Amino acid sequence: MKTINRHKEAGYEIDSVSSKGYCIRSVSDLLTKNEIESRLKSKWVGSQIECYEVIDSTNTQAMRLAESGASHGTLVAAERQDGGKGRRGRSWENPAGIAVAMSILLRPSELEPANAPMLTLVSAMAVARAIEELAEINTQIKWPNDIVIDGKKVCGILTEMEMHTDYISHIVVGIGINVHNESFPEELADKATSIYLVSGKHISRAALVATVCQYFEYYYGIFMQTQELSGLMEEYSRYLVNCGQKVRVLDPKKEFEGIARGITARGELLVDTGDAVVKVESGEVSVRGIYGYV
Ligand code: BTN
Repeated sequence: MKTINRHKEAGYEIDSVSSKGYCIRSVSDLLTKNEIESRLKSKWVGSQIECYEVIDSTNTQAMRLAESGASHGTLVAAERQDGGKGRRGRSWENPAGIAVAMSILLRPSELEPANAPMLTLVSAMAVARAIEELAEINTQIKWPNDIVIDGKKVCGILTEMEMHTDYISHIVVGIGINVHNESFPEELADKATSIYLVSGKHISRAALVATVCQYFEYYYGIFMQTQELSGLMEEYSRYLVNCGQKVRVLDPKKEFEGIARGITARGELLVDTGDAVVKVESGEVSVRGIYGYV
């Protein structure tokens, strides 16, 4: 009986069938260590998993765990964040049970600090591929690392790095994916979407986290062979939604417009202004579509 109650508490719907015992009817979409671990195919990403009902931010928690010695590949996930962080100091909302909030801790002892920003493109490829595989839909990447479906954002990535004088102590790659959302607040409705809204499928969030880990490990391995994107550029370019599109580059030094042509092996966006092809580095710069979000 105790086991049955534990299963019910964990979200399983259980019917009692007279004289035959119990029958597990359906499983709600849980984001627990067990559910993730049982689907994990990666070797080192997710070798340690920390899951929380509520945490301020999985990125902040991964940073805290790093300070207390957590290992390379530690995965942090949460049902709900009450202080989720977005890029450029913005906040990131994720209601309980609906989204994925996950962070991967990296201790890349060999990685040159100057090459670290490229990890953000590597992470985007892992998420794009994982969503495609599980939901059977096409995904695109808005440079450098927003995942886009049908012109709307389905995932954001925030990469944070802790440096010592001239080497990286650790990096946290934080990934927020809209999974089951059935609608968005009016101010977001024209630029945000969810996997459910575009595919009509309620995919398992634990499977999504495990598949992101698997592809992150795969693309990270290719990236680390050269510490640049020469082995990934071709595939990344196929995902790139901006290609051939008119974009506005919001460079704090000078805003300009041009046609996005692709990326370089260092992950810079090539923007053709008509006079020259400018290499735009990610970081402080943000790129907008002229006619909308993409
Ligand atoms: C963006 O602004 O597009 C980036 C959003 C990143 C959100 C994720 S959710 C998991 C991780 N924890 C955070 O606090 N932020 C990232």
